[in-house]
Amino acid sequence: MAAEGTPPHCRPAKPALYGELTAQFAGLVAGERNGLANAANLAALLYEALPDLNWAGFYLMQGGELVLGPFQGKVACVRIALGRGVCGTAAQRRATQIVPDVHEFPGHIACDAASRSEIVLPLVQGERVLGVLDLDSPRLARFDEDDAAGLGGLIDVLLQGSDFSRLVD
Ligand code: SME
Repeated sequence: MAAEGTPPHCRPAKPALYGELTAQFAGLVAGERNGLANAANLAALLYEALPDLNWAGFYLMQGGELVLGPFQGKVACVRIALGRGVCGTAAQRRATQIVPDVHEFPGHIACDAASRSEIVLPLVQGERVLGVLDLDSPRLARFDEDDAAGLGGLIDVLLQGSDFSRLVD
């Protein structure tokens, strides 16, 4: 797992870390509008740079359901119906879901038994939900509002700099 060896007191504060990641990701997407490539690089960047993750990736809206997109981590379920699990809930409500303990979330879809907490942000462009960004952690209550804000900024960079028209319908 990424950055696991760094003791928590030696890690940069979350807003500072997300600031660095946002600058790095803006550099990566500059001049490249392929949504698949940019989403794949964001999944890899997050998985490498954020501590205590066991999954980071995307589900994209296709045919009215969420379909597995670029990710890092163990193999995952491929299709999630709107309203199902944490991902389907985030997409349906167009609202970020922070789940401190996945065992307490009714309908949570367990792709990896090691996952204990989760954050899912919808990818919203205009009136449309293009998909979700999903991060899982083996640590309880790993995610908070700082993660929601930092990941939201990264999603803004992704959506502004990328073309998803051939990836979602
Ligand atoms: N836990 C998610 C499913 C996706 S995996 O975590 C990769 C959910 O409940 O929607």
